[in-house]
Amino acid sequence: MTTAALGVSFDDPALERSVRAGLDAVESALRKAVHSDDEFVANAAGYLVEAGGKRFRPLLSVLAAHFGDASRPEVVDAAVVCEITHLATLYHDDVMDEALVRRGSQSANARWDNSVAILTGDFLFSRASNILADLGPWAVRLQAQTFERLVIGQINETVGPRPGADPIEHYLSVLADKTGSLIATAAEFGAHFAGVDAPVIARLRDFGEQIGVAFQISDDILDIASESVESGKTPGTDLREGVPTLPVLYALRGGEGRGAEGGEFTTSATKAQRLRTLVSHPLVDDAEHAEALALLRSSPAIEQARTTLRGYADRARATLDTLPDVPARDALEALTQLVIARTG
Ligand code: IPE
Ligand code: IPE
Ligand code: MG
Ligand code: MG
Repeated sequence: MTTAALGVSFDDPALERSVRAGLDAVESALRKAVHSDDEFVANAAGYLVEAGGKRFRPLLSVLAAHFGDASRPEVVDAAVVCEITHLATLYHDDVMDEALVRRGSQSANARWDNSVAILTGDFLFSRASNILADLGPWAVRLQAQTFERLVIGQINETVGPRPGADPIEHYLSVLADKTGSLIATAAEFGAHFAGVDAPVIARLRDFGEQIGVAFQISDDILDIASESVESGKTPGTDLREGVPTLPVLYALRGGEGRGAEGGEFTTSATKAQRLRTLVSHPLVDDAEHAEALALLRSSPAIEQARTTLRGYADRARATLDTLPDVPARDALEALTQLVIARTG
């Protein structure tokens, strides 16, 4: 998947040219940043860069920079930091999720092994830190705080909700931390280094956080609804790993099929009941996994998840409305639309 595959439409040709130039600069800086004289390390670290990816975070940095002077070189460096940090988390996440496919290629853990994937992720963090050192202490601290939230999000997802906590609230706070944090920072970095005014930076950051959560909800819907040719990943990975995502949580909470004491179950209630039974544990059995995926794809729960997704996207749009009316704002609007549209 290339940047173009993200398909943001630009109404303004000058903006489009400038964003493309920015992303091209990010691309070459990214390749340089992950290069190593050690051939094995260079191959392992360059592996997922070459495999593709949407470059969503750099795109956000570059678009946010267009509220100010996007030609400043630090904008590119900050965008590279965000993409490298994201890349490193993908190497680690695929180990945690035992994923076999990433960006349409074998995951690094499958191509080599867990140790290589973990250590390559660490190598990438070191390279991100190196660039951050040149961006100064403010950037180092923001990145540290961002990374802390991201890791806490991953930990909380692994640990699950505390007894008595609402699982959907827990899920949404995990998303804000593991995904919203870095996407918000991508926007903040781009705007900051382009010299944008502080109040506008703050709103771009809020937008990033909201679109980040929406982006992860759409990713979780795609894990159920898409084929791997579209996502470049194996569908149903979350189900197999027993990571309850929003459609599953809605299915577990749903009222259908409950309380039909002695009465007839409707077909949909029977399906809902069966789905709840299936998703109550990690689905390692192939037949059960396929059955749960099919049930989820046609369940009201997946529609409910789409409604929640639209809620986040609406809030992101409302934040955009408070920003200066420049062409980049329209592009961010188009990007928001795309995050909803990609779930079908
Ligand atoms: C995947 O991110 C992990 C999530 C936070 C959803 P992306 O969907 O941005 O992955 P790439 O960079 O395009 O591969
Ligand atoms: C990944 O979440 C989030 C981070 C890497 C921080 P997921 O596990 O849902 O993402 P995918 O589906 O593997 O890309
Ligand atoms: Mg994963
Ligand atoms: Mg994960």
